[in-house]
Amino acid sequence: MSTGFPRIVAIDSHAPDARVIAQAVNALRRGRLVAFPTETVYGLGARAFDGAALARVFAAKGRPAHHPLIAHVTGEGDACALAAAWPPVAARLARAFWPGPLTLVVERAAHVPAAIAGGGDSIAVRAPAHPVARALIEALGEPIAAPSANRYQGISPTTAAHVVRQLGAAVDFVLDGGSCAAGIESTVVDVRGERPRILRPGATAAARVRAVVPNLEATAERASREAARASPGMGARHYAPRARLHIAITAEVAALIEACAGAGLLVGAITHSEGLTIPPASGVTERRLGADPEAYASRLYATLHDLDDRGVDVIVVEAVPPGDAWWAIEDRLRRATAVE
Ligand code: TXA
Ligand code: MG
Repeated sequence: MSTGFPRIVAIDSHAPDARVIAQAVNALRRGRLVAFPTETVYGLGARAFDGAALARVFAAKGRPAHHPLIAHVTGEGDACALAAAWPPVAARLARAFWPGPLTLVVERAAHVPAAIAGGGDSIAVRAPAHPVARALIEALGEPIAAPSANRYQGISPTTAAHVVRQLGAAVDFVLDGGSCAAGIESTVVDVRGERPRILRPGATAAARVRAVVPNLEATAERASREAARASPGMGARHYAPRARLHIAITAEVAALIEACAGAGLLVGAITHSEGLTIPPASGVTERRLGADPEAYASRLYATLHDLDDRGVDVIVVEAVPPGDAWWAIEDRLRRATAVE
């Protein structure tokens, strides 16, 4: 069981050392939990067919057992083997986006433990692109079940330090491959129905998914309301920092910051508009994440972690533009403001 502190091993994210991967594989085979980098966020990995290890994943996160986990695979062949049915649309999406930050929800094959699917009859599968994640799955020779390596309702980790800070001794082995490039979770698409549907917007832009499957049923506005019901684990409060988070339209950001600072609160501000100037008030830490949604996403969680570390009381976020390109970011910000 746990040794009191995770073993943290640095690994080259472009050319992972096979000996380090072998150590991590040994840990997985002994039923231990291994955190590893993906191109989106760090995952908390367990052997997908090891019921006891899956139970430890739920315990480590403090996550309810009915929230399903994603099975990480090397590619379409492995994914297919976990599915009771592999519809043509799954094949099209897998061929277009794998390896990469897209997760497909399909019907679960009977031999796949229900625990990984939160007891449901579907299974989410994804082939990550990150060389460390790929090397780990390949060397294990089996799918790896991995949620984001954070405590339930916490902010997903984009560095090994974020993982250790949230999970501590609950994780046995951490592969430290540096920062995750996308910085936001994969896009989850349900391909079981007549029309494919985005359950969680994410690192693969909805417009790119739609280009491959034009009958995609999703708009940023409608889907974010409906997804909470369709995708277990997409409850309102999620991805939340310790500090209270407020979203303000551009014209109201400065006034809200002034009001908070005036009330003696330590304020963090996250902005994207070039023209927005924040009044130089004491106790305001400003982070400009820029007007490009991909660059913004890659820094968002790290910025929230950083502002939390600085002990700010409130984080004022400039509302992001409407539409598909900012959908995943808008979704995470909204969940971070929700009250439990
Ligand atoms: O980028 C990612 O997807 C990261 C990395 C580690 O791969 N993983 C991740 O896992 O974000 P997690 O467990 O934190 O979020 C998985 C999401 C949840 O919103 C969950 O509801 C949805 O995928 N999901 C998983 N299995 C599902 C299923 N069988 N049916 C519907 N939704 C499912
Ligand atoms: Mg998560």
